[in-house]
Amino acid sequence: MTAQLIDGKKVSEKCLVTVRECVDARVARGLRAPGLAVVLVGDNPASAVYVRNKKAACEKVGFQSFSYHLPSQTSEYELLNLINELNNNDEIDGILVQLPLPQHIDGQKILEKINPNKDVDGFHPYNVGRLLVRMPLMRPCTPKGVMTLLKEYDIDVKRKKVTIVGASNIVGRPMMLEMLLAGATPTICHRFTENLADEVGQADIVVAAVGNPNLIKGEWIKQGAVVVDVGINRLEDGTLCGDVDFAIAKERAAWITPVPGGVGPMTIASLLENTLQAAELSDK
Ligand code: GUN
Repeated sequence: MTAQLIDGKKVSEKCLVTVRECVDARVARGLRAPGLAVVLVGDNPASAVYVRNKKAACEKVGFQSFSYHLPSQTSEYELLNLINELNNNDEIDGILVQLPLPQHIDGQKILEKINPNKDVDGFHPYNVGRLLVRMPLMRPCTPKGVMTLLKEYDIDVKRKKVTIVGASNIVGRPMMLEMLLAGATPTICHRFTENLADEVGQADIVVAAVGNPNLIKGEWIKQGAVVVDVGINRLEDGTLCGDVDFAIAKERAAWITPVPGGVGPMTIASLLENTLQAAELSDK
């Protein structure tokens, strides 16, 4: 079997068109365009690229974007004060603090300072808890993007065995909650999982979110499975690759996401959808 490609770029563009239409309709009704504040602390080169892409996407859909690029020595106190200001600024519907933050700042403390209604990343414990109890408000962007992508390709997750590799707060854990909410049977694997190959081999759907190039061997994939690769790893020669050995996996899977052009663009699409949702919340 040779897998069909899941085109995240195409689906994300479709999401952006829908968001743009909603923004235009808001403005035509005399409402403000949604506003997103993006906060970057320090000079992590990968973070700078992500932030630039997020800003560009905001402009594409007609959002107002507000950028805060702070030096790496910014104190936790200063950052908390900025979040407080953004919470109280009526032009700002969404607040995104790009992770990772410098070592001397307690990232969790910062995330918990964000007003949950403006928490477009869905990382505040309130929003994580809402997803856990089946009442999602702001849903973490990458797992939400994966669900949108699967839905768009009519890939039903209900009753399926889903193996998620990676238990991060940003992807693995909320991915497990999304899958549970959608009626799948998720298994989550992490550094202490004893037989990763077996766990992957039993899955109808594999979601890889570790950040370790080619950790998931193509031979582990069950014939006809769906492979969603969230990893974005830069190799020494400058090329990008995922967490799954794509060349072999694509010969076994029915569907597979490429890297780049798979899940990556969907994270940004979800961010824009969440920001629009936050603006609609603040109208009420
Ligand atoms: N760092 C890596 N992924 C993300 C994300 O989705 N949001 C934020 N804020 N930081 C990240």
